[in-house]
Amino acid sequence: MSRLKELRNYVCDVINNLDDVDERTAAITHLNGVALAAVILAKKRGLNEELAPMAAMLHDLHAYKTGSYDDHAHLGSELARSILNELNLTNEEETDIICSAIYHHDDKLVTDSPMDELLKDADVISHTMHDPSKAIKEKEQARYSSICSELGLRG
Ligand SMILES: [Fe+2]
Ligand SMILES: [Fe+2]
Repeated sequence: MSRLKELRNYVCDVINNLDDVDERTAAITHLNGVALAAVILAKKRGLNEELAPMAAMLHDLHAYKTGSYDDHAHLGSELARSILNELNLTNEEETDIICSAIYHHDDKLVTDSPMDELLKDADVISHTMHDPSKAIKEKEQARYSSICSELGLRG
């Protein structure tokens, strides 16, 4: 089984234990949507196309588990580290790359490392393209425009 598949199974088990069925559907949809976008961006940018979706699968897990988005990026990074240590899927350097991306993923207005930026952009793709009829949040507009121009998409 691939590392991504193993991690995805773990995350799906966590999500499937949530009480609210709508929350379960939203969580699985968002995490898998961000993971798919992360692979596309990794291929486009020459970044690791295995670690990118692994970070995506974990990036909002703390928020889903606790029902709170308060500091969820930083707390989620700690949760991701404990999960990755438990599953023993990644070496220390890979764990650091994934946890850094999760730690920074809510800092959409600043620029961090290439993999950090990839996760932010994959998150914005999910927020803006899951339902194109929805208005784009102001804080995501600039990032959305630059993703569209990078990928040659109509903005
Ligand atoms: Fe988030
Ligand atoms: Fe997210």
